[in-house]
Amino acid sequence: MDRPTLLITRRVPPAVEARAVRDYDARLNPEDAPRTAADIVRLAQGAAAILCCPAEQLDAETIAALPDTVRVIATFSVGYDHVAVDAATARGIVVCNTPGVLSVATAETAMLLLLAAARRAGEGERLTRSGQWQGWAPTQLLGIQVSGKRLGIFGMGRIGREVARMARAFDMQVHYRDQARLPAELEQDAVYHAADESFLPQCDMLSLHAPGGDPTRHWLDARRIALLPQGAVVVNAARGSLVDDAALIAALRSGQVSCAGLDVYDGEPAINPGYLQLQNVVLLPHLGSATLETRNAMGFLALDGIDAVLAGSAPANAVS
Ligand code: DGY
Repeated sequence: MDRPTLLITRRVPPAVEARAVRDYDARLNPEDAPRTAADIVRLAQGAAAILCCPAEQLDAETIAALPDTVRVIATFSVGYDHVAVDAATARGIVVCNTPGVLSVATAETAMLLLLAAARRAGEGERLTRSGQWQGWAPTQLLGIQVSGKRLGIFGMGRIGREVARMARAFDMQVHYRDQARLPAELEQDAVYHAADESFLPQCDMLSLHAPGGDPTRHWLDARRIALLPQGAVVVNAARGSLVDDAALIAALRSGQVSCAGLDVYDGEPAINPGYLQLQNVVLLPHLGSATLETRNAMGFLALDGIDAVLAGSAPANAVS
């Protein structure tokens, strides 16, 4: 019996590729160059499934142009703001993502950014490599102690809760803002805020973990930044679209925000050049979930979703 065709838009970890090749007539991307929307439509001809990635925009127009053979789109990510889910649903295409399996790795990235920004690790690394370091000095690169501070988490889903768990090991007091209060067993000792006005003044350190997309676009704008305590630390390992870059850059220059750690960028891989001129910002290239264990788990979960749809059952990881 012919195996269904699966279009995989980027290079995936070897174990994920091996399973895909075993089970499907897999169309791979050995060059790993990002696929444009037009490429995806062309390469999907005759395919039953597409495994895509966050950097690819599957907007309503692209979904409308896909061949009728496509029954499922799985994105190699928990975020699915790059996929027009309503348009897919209207065509009977199921959309799957990879929730749960990347929470630990992404929370690690957020904590790494928090510590690196607050303790000036980027500046320290640049100094050490420069050959200009003169040795230990009592006032050299004094940072901000993270332990014991108040950490605000915007978006208390699985990743936000994992950050809260890790932050407790640093004796941080966790405050959070979300659409609804969590049940006690998930909230633990975190303090819920139903309004930005009560939440933001509590955030010595603010870590963003909400989904991207229109409802949260530029949530961290000049007005909200002004509500943070003077000298707050900002971390974003969620989506670049959550931040108004011009406002954050102005706050990093004025000292309203003392430092920031960013893993994601509005319009990435382009980065607002204002960040590149600042010493007090640590910049990572969207490493959030980038461990081999996690990327394998994400790939397998995406394939589980595709397997389920093509077998006629409802995948646990469907978003539509
Ligand atoms: C996600 O899963 O949405 C991440 O941003 C990809 O690493």
